[in-house]
Amino acid sequence: MVQLRTQLGLGVLIAIAVAFAVTAPAAPRGVEPGDPSVENGAYVFDAAGCASCHSAPLSEDRLILSGGKPFDTQFGVFYAPNISMHPIYGVGDWTLADFEQALRQGVSPDGQHYFPVFPYTTYQNMRDQDVRDVWAYMKTLPTSDQPNLPHDVAFPFSVRRSIGGWKLLFMPSAHVDIADRGQYLVDALGHCAECHTARNMFGGWRRGVWLQGGPNPAGPGKIPGISSGALDWSPADIAEYLSSGFTPEYDVAGGEMVDVIKNTSRLSAADRDAIAAYLKRVK
Ligand code: HEC
Ligand code: HEC
Repeated sequence: MVQLRTQLGLGVLIAIAVAFAVTAPAAPRGVEPGDPSVENGAYVFDAAGCASCHSAPLSEDRLILSGGKPFDTQFGVFYAPNISMHPIYGVGDWTLADFEQALRQGVSPDGQHYFPVFPYTTYQNMRDQDVRDVWAYMKTLPTSDQPNLPHDVAFPFSVRRSIGGWKLLFMPSAHVDIADRGQYLVDALGHCAECHTARNMFGGWRRGVWLQGGPNPAGPGKIPGISSGALDWSPADIAEYLSSGFTPEYDVAGGEMVDVIKNTSRLSAADRDAIAAYLKRVK
């Protein structure tokens, strides 16, 4: 425990030092102009699991994005914000450029860094077309006047500027265009690594053990690995699980995976097969 505290203390000092060296968010990248497709936007919205975090907890209607879901992490409790199109309580007065900057760079319209509990480290690799289409789709959803809950995070993690240092250390700087469909679904949209990849003490991914499982970041227990070395299911077994939640032993998925399967079950069978094929290629 004492050792852990010392390490944390040291880590915090490094993070703050780096944070003050580089904290200014990079210039926005923007989105190539083009006609949005609401239909594709709805599909990307499911594949990226936006409703899993932004619908009201216990709400029957997953398309009312009023926020309020708590995320209990080692740094404190974060609450998902209202991302409905309400002009005051939601993001109704944002532009597409504001949205792109939030989703792919983790920066708010007023230039603040978001906490990485919002999985922009994954979404940074979303294609322009998909960013534009999700935005167009979100504009068709109902609004909510639910005010945001303030995060309950202690100093120094509460200092948004320090996330600039975190990003520098743990977020690869450039957007990568992922050509493989399965990899795109897993690593740019589905944010499977958010749970299935172990993290270091600062909450950065240990990229050398990609998708190989690790401690549950949100509570007790472990999250199983889903790479080929960690999970010996066939591609068909994986695709079935992502569709129905049944394991090859006829168990049903539990824990946080239940919510994930609400999303993956809406994908096309071809996309679930592509995810399974990609997982088989990851060590
Ligand atoms: C794992 C949970 C999670 C998922 C999945 C998720 N978000 Fe979020 N999102 C958050 C949290 C938590 C924040 C608040 C971050 C902060 O305050 O620093 C946030 C913030 C945002 C914001 C900024 C809102 C504001 O008022 O500044 C937008 C926009 C957003 N998310 C859109 C999306 C979209 C679109 C998707 C799907 C592509 C998505 N989110 C998926 C948890 C999530
Ligand atoms: C919010 C956290 C979370 C996310 C995101 C997540 N998973 Fe999971 N996953 C879990 C948990 C927890 C389990 C264990 C479920 C259980 O014990 O029944 C699991 C189990 C699995 C299993 C079964 C492994 C086994 O040994 O039982 C597969 C396959 C899987 N996930 C694939 C995925 C894929 C593909 C994605 C991305 C589309 C994904 N998961 C995203 C938390 C998550």
